Amino acid sequence: MARILDGKAIQQQILEELKPRIARLAAARRPPGLAAVLVGENPASQIYVASKVKTCRELGMHSEELRLPEATTTEELLERIEQYNEREDIDGILVQMPLPKQIDSRRVLLAIRPEKDVDGFHPFNVGQLVANAPAPRACTPAGVMELLRRSGIEVAGAEAVVVGRSDIVGKPMALLLMHAHATVTICHSRTRDLPAVCRRADILIAAMGRPAFLTAEFIRPGAVVIDVGINRITDRAEAERIARGAPAKLAAFEKNGSVLVGDVHPGDVAELASAYTPVPGGVGPLTIAMLMANTVECAEKRLG
Ligand code: GUN
Repeated sequence: MARILDGKAIQQQILEELKPRIARLAAARRPPGLAAVLVGENPASQIYVASKVKTCRELGMHSEELRLPEATTTEELLERIEQYNEREDIDGILVQMPLPKQIDSRRVLLAIRPEKDVDGFHPFNVGQLVANAPAPRACTPAGVMELLRRSGIEVAGAEAVVVGRSDIVGKPMALLLMHAHATVTICHSRTRDLPAVCRRADILIAAMGRPAFLTAEFIRPGAVVIDVGINRITDRAEAERIARGAPAKLAAFEKNGSVLVGDVHPGDVAELASAYTPVPGGVGPLTIAMLMANTVECAEKRLG
């Protein structure tokens, strides 16, 4: 039986460890403060941001959510970021991605002060990551590393295969694994014989955003499989394909008219992996935990 890596439980551990640090800051000066900026109406982004703000509040941190209309210009967004840069009580600024297409995302990421960049997306902080120097790290890849560490999964010397090469997950994930002494392969849509490359993996990281794309032929028996994908399925035939060996997925589809699935086939991974992250309840909670950790860290640095 494959071991299920419970992201929710590990999230709770991390949040518990943050509480005394938050209390110390609150007693000495003020609680850490996070500003979350959401542009437009992307339903998934709305849920993510609401969840981030809610977690902040539960931890006794200050948080505010700024919602801007879909038609916001780059200049308007930059002006708001500058205001947060100047605010003494704001330690972290996050701009939820993706942004509407008229906005120049690179200018936006460059505008956030690196010391308030709790997402680790600013080019300075990306450079620090490449150099393995201290700086806020992108939350999802950092969460995966924390999950591996706290689950006792050995990374040093392992063959790690990362499927997906995004700036937010794939690239920083590969760097973190490399710094932890894994042998790292990055795959993408142009990789030749993707199943064969994936089958080399002791640790397989799925982060390409294609529902249940990694099926049995991609998974080496006994591999550890980390699923970063989160996709909402509304098509019945697709739900039935996904539910092969994972009947709870079809039951959820029948009940709600849609079902969440990762980039890995849930039935196949349960059968083949030695350990894997479920979707939902795997990597997602870790992303939030690392955002909280980054915000506390930034506050401690700023408040001395
Ligand atoms: N979109 C998907 N993941 C993330 C994340 O970790 N941070 C932000 N800001 N946007 C995202």
